[in-house]
Amino acid sequence: MADKLLQVRGLNAWYGESHILQGVDLDVAEGEVVTLLGRNGAGKTTTLKSIMGLVGRRAGSVQFRGGETIALRSDLIARAGIALCPEERGIFASLSVFENLMLPPVVAPGGLDVPTLYELFPNLKERSRSQGTRLSGGEQQMLAIARILRTGARLLLLDEPTEGLAPVIVQQIGRTIRAIKQRGFTVLLVEQNFHFAATVADRHYVMEHGTIVDMIRNADLANAMDKLHDYLGV
Ligand SMILES: Nc1ncnc2c1ncn2[C@@H]1O[C@H](COP(=O)(O)OP(=O)(O)O)[C@@H](O)[C@H]1O
Ligand SMILES: [Mg+2]
Repeated sequence: MADKLLQVRGLNAWYGESHILQGVDLDVAEGEVVTLLGRNGAGKTTTLKSIMGLVGRRAGSVQFRGGETIALRSDLIARAGIALCPEERGIFASLSVFENLMLPPVVAPGGLDVPTLYELFPNLKERSRSQGTRLSGGEQQMLAIARILRTGARLLLLDEPTEGLAPVIVQQIGRTIRAIKQRGFTVLLVEQNFHFAATVADRHYVMEHGTIVDMIRNADLANAMDKLHDYLGV
């Protein structure tokens, strides 16, 4: 694969005594959008957290831009250019949209400036002085994504950005992810909704019981529907 940005090999992760990831192998090339699909509890969130160094213990290899990060602290992983947008979004209720945007530290050059972010997310511009609590779920998700685009991170880990959102907002998130890709960002995305995943991704990994069990190119997704229904139990 050309220009491999992230290479994960034999990644194991534990929460306390619980051995959750049991040898995860995956690659993400520069500029790709790749999804992690799988049932609840398969280990998708744990995979994103482990890449970010946010689990109790991890072992194996996580190379970013050819450099090994497995022994790095999470703040140093962030400095290397990886950012996580967590499922719970983490918008500060008492801060305004603008203040929330400015919150994460810039780790590298190449992040988007605020005018560019407001161009990409017009809703956020209109709401820039609104408090975090006044935002809809969709606006909070947009803000959570916008905020990490400012930091200069090149690899964005998005955990179920469409969860709980109305179809029209899901479409907006889809447009946003495609726009991010066009600007050269790389995305690893956890999704439950493979119909949505098909509209944004180049490839899909399927997880079961803490490992990757399949990889499907987006162009082959239509032919893989039966298999996917089995994997996902839908
Ligand atoms: N903080 C935690 N402590 C202990 N077990 C956890 C913790 N978070 C998740 N788990 C367990 O790890 C497994 C994988 O969870 P998770 O990565 O959240 O799955 P997914 O995102 O695919 O739904 C589940 O069995 C879950 O119960
Ligand atoms: Mg999850």
